[in-house]
Amino acid sequence: MNNGGFLFDTDGGVLHAHGGHIIRHGGYFYWYGEDRRRDFYVSCYRSADLHRWEFRRHVLTVKSDPADLSRGGRRVNIERPKVVYCEATGKFVMWAHYENGADYTEAAACVAVSDTPDGDFEYRGHFRPLVYMSRDCTLFTDPVTRAVYFISASRDNADLHIYRLTEDCTRVDKLVNVLFPGQFREAPAVFYRDGKYHMLTSACTGWAPNQGCCSSADAMEGAWSPLLPFGDETTFHSQPAFVLPLGGEYYYFADRWGGFPMSQPFDYSKSSYVILKINFTDAGAPFIVWNDSFPVFPISPALN
Ligand code: GAL
Repeated sequence: MNNGGFLFDTDGGVLHAHGGHIIRHGGYFYWYGEDRRRDFYVSCYRSADLHRWEFRRHVLTVKSDPADLSRGGRRVNIERPKVVYCEATGKFVMWAHYENGADYTEAAACVAVSDTPDGDFEYRGHFRPLVYMSRDCTLFTDPVTRAVYFISASRDNADLHIYRLTEDCTRVDKLVNVLFPGQFREAPAVFYRDGKYHMLTSACTGWAPNQGCCSSADAMEGAWSPLLPFGDETTFHSQPAFVLPLGGEYYYFADRWGGFPMSQPFDYSKSSYVILKINFTDAGAPFIVWNDSFPVFPISPALN
């Protein structure tokens, strides 16, 4: 009965890793996510088994760039941080959604780079990719082509852009796809299974949960299918953060913003997590059903 609740680190502290992302490196899983306490922005936790999470570092804080990450002393918003291991440079590159802390008009992305997965990330500033507006976002390394993509909501969230990144993963090379024009999709999460690319998204209703959808394609830069419902009308009261592939299985990691039922007035600190194993139809279409418990992950040394 813990699914939809808080997660804790090995010191017993609440896990602050919302809108985040897990990567695997050197036998460990690293979980990055939003941490809105004090002067923190992005925190990093490490685990060998996906159950015991050791806090490693506040990898992005106001101190990472006091000028750009506190505007006139005001915290900015750093949302949906994602990290990719850049094969060309051997560095860890973080992309996130940047807003000025007063409103959501900046519509920008920001980038930070580190030599190690849990080091102090060096902040490289915020910008609009190819001058397009950019809000909810994710990163995805294509396991077939090894190209790295940044996917973000553009045109006031009306369209979802797929950009191919430069070899060093710190800049946008080219806009390669515009998905779901006029359909206002947010919270993208991409994964690959059996020759198909799948993208989960939410609708655009702020912190309130809504019907998740899935679209699929034969190639990141190819044609994507129409949106099909994923989960129930509130996606089990959650919004996608990312999908973790693990030993042939796939796990939906999501945020339950403001707890359950949502607090009025909205209280971000009550946000918790929903994690569900993804099932697939015979035709390969992903779907989820509710489970009261967080998954027991099938971790074995062979997976690492
Ligand atoms: C959501 C978005 C979150 C956050 C929130 C603010 O739609 O997915 O990351 O930006 O809006 O209202």
